[in-house]
Amino acid sequence: MGASYHPLDPHNYHKPSSKNPPCFLSKPVCALLAAGFLSLALLHLLCCSPAGTQRPAFSHLLQYINNTDSFVSSVPGGDESCNYSEGRWVWSPGYARRYNATECNVKESHDCIRNGRPDTGYLDWRWQPAGGCPLPAFNAGVFLAAVRGKHVAFIGDSMARNQAQSLVCLLGAAFPSRLVHGGAGRRKHNFWRYAFPAHGVTVSFYWNPFIVKATGKSEDESVRENHVHLDTPGDGWGADADTIDVAVLGASHWLLNGAIYYNGSEAIGAHNAPAELNYTGVGYAWPLRMAYRTAVARLSSSRPRTVVLATFSPAHFEGRPSDSPTACTKMEPYEEGEKELDWICRELRGIVYDEAEAARARGAGGGATRIEVLDVTKLAAMRPDGHPSVYMHRDPFAHGVPERMYSDCLHFCLPGPVDTFNEILLQILRKRR
Ligand SMILES: *[C@@H]1O[C@H](CO)[C@@H](O)[C@H](O)[C@H]1NC(C)=O
Ligand SMILES: *[C@@H]1O[C@H](CO)[C@@H](O)[C@H](O)[C@H]1NC(C)=O
Ligand SMILES: *[C@@H]1O[C@H](CO)[C@@H](O)[C@H](O)[C@H]1NC(C)=O
Ligand SMILES: *[C@@H]1O[C@H](CO)[C@@H](O)[C@H](O)[C@H]1NC(C)=O
Ligand SMILES: *[C@@H]1O[C@H](CO)[C@@H](O)[C@H](O)[C@H]1NC(C)=O
Repeated sequence: MGASYHPLDPHNYHKPSSKNPPCFLSKPVCALLAAGFLSLALLHLLCCSPAGTQRPAFSHLLQYINNTDSFVSSVPGGDESCNYSEGRWVWSPGYARRYNATECNVKESHDCIRNGRPDTGYLDWRWQPAGGCPLPAFNAGVFLAAVRGKHVAFIGDSMARNQAQSLVCLLGAAFPSRLVHGGAGRRKHNFWRYAFPAHGVTVSFYWNPFIVKATGKSEDESVRENHVHLDTPGDGWGADADTIDVAVLGASHWLLNGAIYYNGSEAIGAHNAPAELNYTGVGYAWPLRMAYRTAVARLSSSRPRTVVLATFSPAHFEGRPSDSPTACTKMEPYEEGEKELDWICRELRGIVYDEAEAARARGAGGGATRIEVLDVTKLAAMRPDGHPSVYMHRDPFAHGVPERMYSDCLHFCLPGPVDTFNEILLQILRKRR
């Protein structure tokens, strides 16, 4: 949930693309455009393909899925010295058409194809790391073999969930899976676990947007404040911590939004709390560090374990209102040099690297706990085109073009750029200890 968070970067604006095919507009849309109500951006959004040439997004889906173990051995790369954090997106038709999201129960608002997103170019890109190492395509068999018999847990905010759902879809497209916990009721997306019985693997998601224990808004949208206990692991994963072999921790967005922070029963400060409450301002960086420290301490043990700290994946509202149907309508990745990472992305990414380094220096778990960084900031920041945008709603233009409509410019469509997070996670887990 980052709907209330808007990055502080007003400098960017939509750059119409010359590569998009010409548009054929319906009369009402033309009238609106002529009246100046809609930007060129929406025009591209509405009519990415000339009438009659739109092909079903998944007509060629299956030919791109190849998850046999023999396939990956023929894929170069996966070298331990590769650094995947910098690079660029290269045009690679069909590369990212990996599964049918409806069949792996993704959150409805991320199922862009089902929701009617007509353009599919965002599925045609591959991440090419700088330095020449290719990033191997995701391979479910290799992933499951790397975590055979293990419990993989994603802990964090809705971006952590986005990645967790992507993983379940990528694995489920090739191997049978079974929902073993959660996934039902009002909070069905906040805790769930899938089993992949052929390899004895389970994959869980724990909704803990501050990683540590929180009450208030994160549990109940109608509450205004978050109360966050920096010294206490989140309830769900804290109880299960001893069963977790691989933990992927991802949080930032809610810390940017703000909370009141506690150590034990004592309120020690706040970020973005009403001034009349007189809390000491502690910003977002320090609480984020404390949350990672508490989590790493809880997950450290003498038994081998891997804790992966995921870096910040930014939104692309670019200062536009989130209830605008044109909040994010770019249809291609940024090119190298087109947009630099803003300072907040660099700062949050730096915190994750620092905390990973600090945890290693403390010798977490007597050295038995491996600490890794999953650095997705740059590759995510380069993908303004990969978000559901108005296709977070099903058939958003079924009743014409509304003036106000929420756009999701934070999460990624599934399938979509977030699948690449798991390609990198696979390479991390394949590394020898
Ligand atoms: C995806 O799967 C659903 C459910 O099985 C099916 O109704 C839908 O047609 C599929 N979508 C595509 C694009 O193949
Ligand atoms: C998958 O890869 C294997 C081994 O390279 C190959 O024999 C097979 O034809 C591929 N399947 C598809 C659907 O491309
Ligand atoms: C990978 O590259 C990033 C960005 O250049 C850098 O911060 C990081 O330290 C590198 N990681 C390793 C393991 O060298
Ligand atoms: C909480 O209090 C304990 C005991 O005074 C202290 O050791 C710890 O550093 C504090 N933690 C935070 C996050 O302030
Ligand atoms: C905050 O400080 C002001 C000025 O010292 C005081 O009047 C007010 O009662 C304080 N509010 C709270 C909630 O403590």
